Amino acid sequence: MRRRICAGNWKMFKTASEARAYVDRFADLLPTIPSSVETILCPPFTALPAACEASRGRIPIGAQNMHWENSGPYTGEISAPMLLELGVQFVILGHSERRQHFGETDEMVRRKTAAALQSGLQPIVAVGEPLDVRERGDAAQYVTSQVRAALEGLPNTAFTDLVLAYEPIWAIGTGRNCDPSDANEMMQSIRSCMPQLRNVPLLYGGSVKAENIAAYARTSDIDGALVGGASLDPDGFARLAAAL
Ligand code: PGA
Repeated sequence: MRRRICAGNWKMFKTASEARAYVDRFADLLPTIPSSVETILCPPFTALPAACEASRGRIPIGAQNMHWENSGPYTGEISAPMLLELGVQFVILGHSERRQHFGETDEMVRRKTAAALQSGLQPIVAVGEPLDVRERGDAAQYVTSQVRAALEGLPNTAFTDLVLAYEPIWAIGTGRNCDPSDANEMMQSIRSCMPQLRNVPLLYGGSVKAENIAAYARTSDIDGALVGGASLDPDGFARLAAAL
């Protein structure tokens, strides 16, 4: 059976002290979430130490980005060993906001994914099409090409630690979530574009809420969610994870 995962992407929200308060509250709510659902919290870099400390191993913590080199002259960047030392276990890579605002290319996402896996972090690799691509009917081709580009050259054994997130750009933060059957159809295209993806957890992201998560969870190929806005409140996110 594939893993069920509910990951909260906090984006550029919450200071270290806010993260600590969130994690303390969320840990109290863990008994309300079935243990079959893995919940992951992804705070901004500066809040990672506080989140890891407060979690005390109870909730896996993820970062939202990293560099592909372990160290070097890359001002403003953070590497996998720096994250691992804090106790970080996951890292979101290739989020559309990074591709859009910070110029991340498929090639950079590929290097980051390989580096994360090599150092023992589990990458949550995000892909997704803009609205014009969806409207001209090319979404599956666009997204599967992003997936192949990000995963090219990985050894088969690396796929055990990989998570993929399909987030149509037009659905992120807009309240306009993708129809669950359309999202599921995309997951099937993703899963069949590389045979190694058969057992890889595929998350849907884009305006997921406690009210709509069940419709995604009931489909054949959606294994969980990557949640932005609706992950910022611990009570709401716990309800969402329980509904998954
Ligand atoms: P959203 O963001 O849930 O606020 O739409 C999802 C994401 O960007 O990961």
